[in-house]
Amino acid sequence: MKSHLLLWLLLILALGIVGEACNPNDLKALTDFKAGIRLDTSGRLAKWLGRGCCNWEGISCDNTTGRVTEINLPGLITRNDAPLQIIMEGRLSPSITHLTSLQVIDLSGLIRLIGNIPTSIGFHLPELRKLWLFGNNLTGSLPESIGKLSKLEELFLNQNRFSGYLPLSLGSLKCLTRLHLHSNRFSGSIPDSITNLTNLVSLNLQENCLSGHIPVRIGDLQALEELDFSSNFLNGKIPVSVTNLTAISIIYLNTNNLAGDIPFPASSDQMPSLGFLSLHDNHLTGTIPETFGYLTSLQRVSLSNNRLEGTLPSSLGNLSSLSEMYLSDNQLSGQIPRSIGQLSQLLVLSISHNMIQSPLSSEISSLQNLQILDLSFNQLNLSSIPNWLVGLQSLDGIHLAGCGIQGEIPELLGSTHSSLLELDLSANQLMGTIPEWLGSLTQLYLLNLSRNSLVSNIPITITDIQSLGVLDLHSNKLRGPINQVFEGWSLTYVDLSDNTFSVGIEQIGKGTQHEIRYLNLSHNNLKGRLPSSVGQLEGLQSLDLSCNEIGSDLPDSMATLSSLERLKLQKNRFTGEIPNGFLKLKKADRIGFVG
Ligand SMILES: *[C@@H]1O[C@H](CO)[C@@H](O)[C@H](O)[C@H]1NC(C)=O
Ligand SMILES: *[C@@H]1O[C@H](CO)[C@@H](O)[C@H](O)[C@H]1NC(C)=O
Ligand SMILES: *[C@@H]1O[C@H](CO)[C@@H](O)[C@H](O)[C@H]1NC(C)=O
Ligand SMILES: *[C@@H]1O[C@H](CO)[C@@H](O)[C@H](O)[C@H]1NC(C)=O
Ligand SMILES: *[C@@H]1O[C@H](CO)[C@@H](O)[C@H](O)[C@H]1NC(C)=O
Ligand SMILES: *[C@@H]1O[C@H](CO)[C@@H](O)[C@H](O)[C@H]1NC(C)=O
Ligand SMILES: *[C@@H]1O[C@H](CO)[C@@H](O)[C@H](O)[C@H]1NC(C)=O
Ligand SMILES: *[C@@H]1O[C@H](CO)[C@@H](O)[C@H](O)[C@H]1NC(C)=O
Repeated sequence: MKSHLLLWLLLILALGIVGEACNPNDLKALTDFKAGIRLDTSGRLAKWLGRGCCNWEGISCDNTTGRVTEINLPGLITRNDAPLQIIMEGRLSPSITHLTSLQVIDLSGLIRLIGNIPTSIGFHLPELRKLWLFGNNLTGSLPESIGKLSKLEELFLNQNRFSGYLPLSLGSLKCLTRLHLHSNRFSGSIPDSITNLTNLVSLNLQENCLSGHIPVRIGDLQALEELDFSSNFLNGKIPVSVTNLTAISIIYLNTNNLAGDIPFPASSDQMPSLGFLSLHDNHLTGTIPETFGYLTSLQRVSLSNNRLEGTLPSSLGNLSSLSEMYLSDNQLSGQIPRSIGQLSQLLVLSISHNMIQSPLSSEISSLQNLQILDLSFNQLNLSSIPNWLVGLQSLDGIHLAGCGIQGEIPELLGSTHSSLLELDLSANQLMGTIPEWLGSLTQLYLLNLSRNSLVSNIPITITDIQSLGVLDLHSNKLRGPINQVFEGWSLTYVDLSDNTFSVGIEQIGKGTQHEIRYLNLSHNNLKGRLPSSVGQLEGLQSLDLSCNEIGSDLPDSMATLSSLERLKLQKNRFTGEIPNGFLKLKKADRIGFVG
């Protein structure tokens, strides 16, 4: 009798300390969840003690039923005004499906969380509105039962390793407003049923392995503001901004391969709110439909690297909100429509690598906000840089490669565009010198004058351009010293190959120029010896000195180039032994010494 009383007293005391016990099913489920996590750097789970799970950090309950309604344990949080990445290592317990009153699951960005979405999820969580599992390491497929979550509004599964087909049942999620499945390995085609999701505002399937056609009735998605079916396939091209060769292999992983036509908009009332459209890096064919002009909310459209053909519809001029238009790497032909001049908000116009013909519409000159103009590699045969370019005062990127431009580099460019960031006049028929006034373009980051017939030294004024990161002068008839290039500025990519430079190799690595990652001096007349200061170029990933007359031994210091992946030295006059330290260059899987 006495001992019973004591027990009761203890129990009441315990309850008083830990708060009210929560629903036993919920308690069991959360305890199982906690047991699945081996490591939690936030310390949140360590404080999950006792039976009052409604008071646990990250858990919310309904104050009338006492049932758990929310799990909020995101990996990226703000602590003391600074972003903090939390790691929860372990497996997502399938028992979360026992939390049958759940409305919100936010287990996003925990990075090392593995496991999959329980197959039966749709049968157990009828109240679920938000399922946020993005940025983890989850695998498996998206279960068919997902379609039973009839109150689901946000499904964020992006940036995981999910695979398999997208279930047809996605089309039953009538309340869905945001569907983000990008950066996974989903395959097969996009189910037609998603065109039933008339509340969808944002649809992102970017960077998966999807194929097939764009659902014909996609235009029925009346609420859509963002549509992204793109890939990030770089098409074998190293973009200027990415000179880190290691990083590139990572970007190739997942690519959508959608084929067929662009089936929308079918009429003037479809997709009235569509602001962002990305379909780049697929295999889309057919033309850009004349109806495109109905998408009057469009701000950014990217159709690059597909197989689109035909002329640009003149209705493009109706897209009065358009600020960025990327159409490069297609087979578009005909002339740029004059209506383009109506796009007063346009900042970026990129149509390179198509078959656009002259005459070039001078209406482009009305685009007073234009910042980037890329017309490279079309069938424009411009003969000279158009005069109206001078009037486009906002331009900071001019790309007119392969445009049949002849004569000297016009001084007008320097005087009117002193804030240029990128200038690409490669693959033209430019003659004469690299002008001294280039040094006045002090903001320049990229200068590409390769594949022309320029005959001169590199002017010393080029060292005035402190911001220059990418310098490509290959395949000209340039001569004289190369010293200037090694004086203290921010170059990361330098190609001086296939010219007639003769002196300056002794200066390699002697300046403060240590950021350089790509250096190509091949096919010149460089004489002298490679100095040991070459070892100062610590970031070097690719070095090509082949086909010169560089003599003597290789300096031992080259062994310190630990980032080197490509080294070509053949056809020179190197003598002696290969330095021992070279055996340490683990990364250099492509070394050529021959000759
Ligand atoms: C219970 O929750 C509702 C809505 O979440 C709130 O309006 C109400 O004030 C709460 N009641 C109590 C007693 O806390
Ligand atoms: C994700 O899992 C794979 C396979 O187990 C592993 O190789 C990878 O390192 C994991 N990623 C992270 C960020 O933990
Ligand atoms: C989608 O709508 C079509 C009719 O437009 C219907 O036949 C189909 O059953 C619906 N699919 C789902 C999954 O709701
Ligand atoms: C290149 O990218 C890889 C992978 O993203 C990264 O680990 C490495 O630090 C980068 N190297 C440089 C020199 O930026
Ligand atoms: C474009 O605008 C013109 C003039 O307002 C109009 O006649 C035409 O129907 C529009 N076309 C499209 C496709 O929006
Ligand atoms: C390009 O234009 C120039 C001058 O107008 C002309 O001489 C040349 O034949 C044209 N080339 C082509 C390929 O059309
Ligand atoms: C410079 O232009 C040439 C020819 O257009 C191109 O092949 C090369 O990749 C460009 N260089 C850089 C660094 O973008
Ligand atoms: C260096 O330039 C030459 C000639 O322009 C080219 O053939 C070679 O592939 C380049 N080397 C590297 C490593 O990119």
